[in-house]
Amino acid sequence: IQMKKRKIALVTGSSGQDGAYLCKLLISKNYKVIAADRRSSRDSGWRHIELGIKNKLIYEDFDLSDVNSIISIIKKYKFNEIYNLAAQSFVKASFHTPISTSDVTALGPLRILDTLKNFSPKTRFYQASSSEMYGKVNKHVLDENTKFNPRSPYAASKLFAHEITKNYREAYNMFCCSGILFNHESPLRGEEFVTRKITKQLCEVKLGKRKFLELGNIYAKRDWGYAEEYVEAMWRMLQQNKPDDYVIATNKVFDVKYFINNSCKSLNIPIMWKGKGIHEVAIIKNTKKIIIKINTKYYRPTEVDYLKGSYKKANRILKWRPKINLKKLIKMMIDADLKRLSKN
Ligand code: NAP
Ligand code: GDD
Repeated sequence: IQMKKRKIALVTGSSGQDGAYLCKLLISKNYKVIAADRRSSRDSGWRHIELGIKNKLIYEDFDLSDVNSIISIIKKYKFNEIYNLAAQSFVKASFHTPISTSDVTALGPLRILDTLKNFSPKTRFYQASSSEMYGKVNKHVLDENTKFNPRSPYAASKLFAHEITKNYREAYNMFCCSGILFNHESPLRGEEFVTRKITKQLCEVKLGKRKFLELGNIYAKRDWGYAEEYVEAMWRMLQQNKPDDYVIATNKVFDVKYFINNSCKSLNIPIMWKGKGIHEVAIIKNTKKIIIKINTKYYRPTEVDYLKGSYKKANRILKWRPKINLKKLIKMMIDADLKRLSKN
C-alpha cells in the first residue's frame, strides 16, 4: 500500500487569531505546518499555548516587508499550500500608519505571489481578503459581485492585495484564492478590536478591576462570526479543483450596542442607557454608576457603518455554513476572559 504523502503548509501571521486556529486545524489534518511570524511576537505565544499547539509547529522567522525572508522560506520548503494571514490588521491604526500598513498589507502578498511565480508556481495560495474592502455601500447584502469602495488605508491595501491575487491567478494560471471574510471573533481575538475590548473590560468591571470602559461609534453594524469556523472555509477553498474568491459571513447583522447589551446580560450586570451622541452613557441599574462612556478618540476619520454578507456561494461550492450564533460567541468570549482574569 502506498502511503499518502504528508502535506506541508505555510501559515503567515500564525501568531494572530486566525493563524492560531488555522495551525490547529492543519495539524489535526496531519499537515506539516510551518508557522511564520516575527520573532518578537513569538515570545508570548499565548494563543498557541491556549490551543496546545506550541510544540507541534515548526517556527520560522519571517517579515512580510522583507522580500528576502519570503524567498528563503519558500526555497527552503516545498509548500503545497500557503495561507497569507499576516497583515497590519487594525483599521484604526492604518489611519496613523498608512504607509507601513500598505507596505505590509498591500505589498506583502505581492512579494509572496511574485516569489511563488518564480520559485514555486504550483503552490496553492490563500489571501486573507476582507469585508472592509466594501466600505461605504448602499446594498443590503454583500456578495462576490458587489463593487468595492474602501474607506481606510487598511481597506485600500486589502483591495490591492485582492486584485493582485486575482491577477496572478489569471496571468500565470496559479492556484490563488481570496476569502472575503466578514468580521470574525473568538476568545483569541486581539484586545484592540471592539468585541474583545468589550468582553475583557466588562469582565474587569465585574471583578472589580476597572470602573468603566470607553468606546467610539456604538451604532456601527457588523456581521460577526466565529473565527474557528472561518479558518475551515480557508482550507476548503484550497481543496477545490478550481481557484476562486468566496465571501464568508453569517448573513446577520448587529450593532456594537447590541454586543454590549448581551455581554452585560451574560455577566449579570443590569444596565440602562442615557443621553445622546458623545454624551450617551450606560449606567449600572442598582448602583447608578457609569459603566460605559463615549470617547471620540475611538472614532475613525471615515467609518464603515454597515456590513452584512451572503455566504451562498461558499455554501453551494464549499459546503460551508456558520454554526455558532452571536449570543453563543459572546458567552464563549466572556467565559474565557473571566477564567483568564480570575487567574491573575
Ligand atoms: P491578527 O490577530 O491581527 O493577526 C495578524 C498577524 O499578522 C499577527 O500574527 C501579526 O504578527 C502578523 N503581522 C503583522 N505585521 C507583520 C509583518 N510585517 N510580517 C509578518 N507578520 C506580520 O489578525 P486576524 O484577526 O487573525 O486576521 C488574520 C488576517 O485576516 C489578517 O490579514 C486580517 O487583516 C484578515 N481579516 C481578518 C478579519 C477578522 O475579522 N478577524 C476579517 C477579514 C480579514 P505580530 O504579532 O508580530 O504583529
Ligand atoms: N476597535 C474599536 N474600538 N472599534 C470600535 C470602538 C472601540 O472602542 N468603538 C466602536 N467601534 C466600532 C468601530 O468604529 C467599527 O465600526 C466597529 O466597532 C468594529 O471595529 P473593529 O472591531 O476594530 O473591527 P473592524 O470592523 O474595523 O475591522 C475588523 O474586521 C475587518 C473585516 O470587516 C478587523 O478584524 C479587520 O482586520 C477586518 O478586515
